Amino acid sequence: MRIFSGIQPTGAKHLGNYSGGFRQYASTQEEGEAFFCIVDLHSITVDFDPETLRRSTLDLAAMLFATGIDPQRSTVFVQSHVPANPYGAWLLSSVASYGQLQRMTQFKEKAERREFVSAGLFTYPVLMAADVLLYNADLVPVGDDQRQHIELMRDLAQRFNARFGETLVVPEGRFPAEGARIMDLQEPQMKMSTTGGTPQGTVLLLDPPEVIRKKLKSAVTDSGREVRHDPEEKPGVSNLIEILSVATGDSFADIEARYDAQGYGPFKKDVGEAVVALLDPIRQRYDELRADEPELRRLLAIGAEKARATAQPTLESMIEKMGFVQPQGVVDTAPSP
Ligand code: TYM
Repeated sequence: MRIFSGIQPTGAKHLGNYSGGFRQYASTQEEGEAFFCIVDLHSITVDFDPETLRRSTLDLAAMLFATGIDPQRSTVFVQSHVPANPYGAWLLSSVASYGQLQRMTQFKEKAERREFVSAGLFTYPVLMAADVLLYNADLVPVGDDQRQHIELMRDLAQRFNARFGETLVVPEGRFPAEGARIMDLQEPQMKMSTTGGTPQGTVLLLDPPEVIRKKLKSAVTDSGREVRHDPEEKPGVSNLIEILSVATGDSFADIEARYDAQGYGPFKKDVGEAVVALLDPIRQRYDELRADEPELRRLLAIGAEKARATAQPTLESMIEKMGFVQPQGVVDTAPSP
């Protein structure tokens, strides 16, 4: 089985990314041949700073390894190192409709918040589709906010196959059973995010323990005293139950039973401690890995080679099926000695 996922290098990575992203990458890599892509080409679709992009691409590589991706087993690479990805996106844009892209909620939300809406922000899901489809991936581990993008890529694969002949694998999304959508601690109606959320309500993977404890202690809870998972009625408490479940592996039912009589104080304190216990070792590993930049670059170079070799045959078969004339090999006219 082939597994593929991508994550953007811009913005500090947070507990939501851990829950829907990193955590699933580390576990799904056991199930087959996995590719994890640092999607730097996606990051230029909103305001960005070149120096920060350069730095955060390596930051993210270190974080992927720190959260458990094994470079012996899985391929980690940078999207811009593989020209087939944007090339494939252009080809797929012929089977993506304007109306369909207009309906993408992520596009609508992001476009609403800014004055300059880049063309790239609009066509972003087509590049994401190419990312996955060029690698013939069967499985795409992501958080809940990517559901619509997964549907779109499935649609594009099917449409391409129907139009040009069986070429692309139609992939499936994998969403975690708990923690598929971690919410902001201060505004539990909004998903946790470094762009749309509140700073105090966003737990960063590199936050030191005191900061994590403080953020969880001040997390918004709901009226009443019951520790019960009910996202409609009790969004704040339900989010904390999900976070505790992600951090410890305990089921919602166990958590509810344990804290029901205790009220919110001890509950929030324990969630804070569980998140510290989860993130502290990650931060330490990250610091070590990030300090060795030549090693990170070496691993990314190996990853790029593997990724190029994997994507190229799919790209060539798309090119061939779409009717493009392939260049002839250069005829050797050099005079013989
Ligand atoms: P990105 O970089 O925004 O997020 C990376 C992963 O983190 C998940 N995530 C969350 N999960 C739970 N709760 C949250 N609050 C939360 N916030 C983020 C996301 O669902 C994602 O899995 N479009 C993608 C990147 C991408 C991609 C791909 C993914 C590009 N090409 C190909 C898969 C396959 C994105 O912006 O993720």
